[in-house]
Amino acid sequence: MSTLIKGGTVVTAGDTFAADVLVEGEQIVAVGRGLSGDTTIDAGGAYVIPGGIDVHTHLDMPFGGTVSSDDFFTGHRAAAFGGTTMHIDFAIQPKGATLRETLDIWHGKAEGKAAIDYGFHVAITDLPDSVLDEMPRCVEYGATSMKLFMAHKGALQVDDTTLFRAMQRAAEHRLLIMVHAENGDAIDILIKEAVEAGNLAPKFHALTRPPELEAEATGRAIRLAEVAGAPLYVVHVTNAAAMNAIRQSRARGYASQIFGETCTQYFFFTKDDLAREGFEGAKWVCSPPFREADDHGQLWAAVADNSLQIVSTDHCPFWFEGGGDGRPAGKELGRDSFAKIPNGCPGIEERMMLLYTHGVAAGRISLNRWVELTSANPAKLFGCYPQKGAVAPGSDADLVIWDPAARRTISAATQHQRTDYTLYEGWEVAGAPRTVLSRGRVLVDDGAWKGEAGAGRFVHRRPFGV
Ligand code: URP
Ligand code: ZN
Ligand code: ZN
Repeated sequence: MSTLIKGGTVVTAGDTFAADVLVEGEQIVAVGRGLSGDTTIDAGGAYVIPGGIDVHTHLDMPFGGTVSSDDFFTGHRAAAFGGTTMHIDFAIQPKGATLRETLDIWHGKAEGKAAIDYGFHVAITDLPDSVLDEMPRCVEYGATSMKLFMAHKGALQVDDTTLFRAMQRAAEHRLLIMVHAENGDAIDILIKEAVEAGNLAPKFHALTRPPELEAEATGRAIRLAEVAGAPLYVVHVTNAAAMNAIRQSRARGYASQIFGETCTQYFFFTKDDLAREGFEGAKWVCSPPFREADDHGQLWAAVADNSLQIVSTDHCPFWFEGGGDGRPAGKELGRDSFAKIPNGCPGIEERMMLLYTHGVAAGRISLNRWVELTSANPAKLFGCYPQKGAVAPGSDADLVIWDPAARRTISAATQHQRTDYTLYEGWEVAGAPRTVLSRGRVLVDDGAWKGEAGAGRFVHRRPFGV
């Protein structure tokens, strides 16, 4: 049974051309003209792009005294509605657990729920010799990237000894080290001082995590990785100083080793959003926090000139008003103190549309760069290209028929993310997915959900650069 996607303009990281795409079973078998198939999907007036890949998400994640509100079904459905057909989530190592046990817990969360394909990074929180020796087995586990938190003291943070030992082992086995780069020790002191002084409103979340402490940790992680010879990927870069540390490392010869991402929300918001009326600012509490308006332009320039290689979301949603109606607790946990507000924001659904609207349509990045930042580079850096991230014979038929003429208004009332708010309430987007396919199956068609819980599959990823 074959499907012909007919009459569209194929857009990849490298090319834009008019062609039909023939899908047989789960894969693309031909891209060209004069093809025929058993059924036809009309792509007239639309772009045909590889499905978005979001390499930074936290579904069903215990954090901040509660759990993120999207699970592996609701998060996947929301992703698909936004044109994302694969994501890589963080399997967080409980203290004392092996990496295998950690991954098994996260496989269990996805089991029977996944509607798009997914992978896992292991987030290492505890590195005795036995776990250090287990690291190379992540190649056989298909989870070839690992994150270490330099912040979230007392919860997820590791020290430099742990980070550097992990980097050395990663260098030997071509595992990609990821860091959440903020100086957690200094932040911990600033938080305690703010709380003691009675500075408890949401805005103090941003004021106790200044950009200098992100830049310092970013530079430190980069220098450690350079010495260890490990490939390094800095997640959620928020500001010019941290981004420049990556840019400078790449300029002094480490362009094939040091990489960075920013996330959609960091193009748009500032620390002033945390100072919104009443407790409203809690919706914008995430780490690292939002910075200054001047950083926005610098981040756009960095994704355009390849100082940063990927735009992801750090999708980590919480209810604004949780705790009732079967909802897990949410942002209300921090009404009395910013230090208790669960850190994280929703965004898996909006990423492709916002980047298209404010990136491509606004002339900041090209159509091809949009595909590269959101799909091709994620697949290349994280070991699954060209199975994912390409429109080519042999690639999985994860395809989005993207309508540049579509107009939508983002709203909590109509979104698919399981939260009671969106950061982008009332924002108009120009361009949206018309039809979304995962391995040849239609997931979303003209706003209607056609996907199925349990149909998504784990993607076994190769080591870095292999
Ligand atoms: O605030 C955030 N980013 N929450 C998710 C965990 C993390 O630090 O990435
Ligand atoms: Zn983080
Ligand atoms: Zn994160």
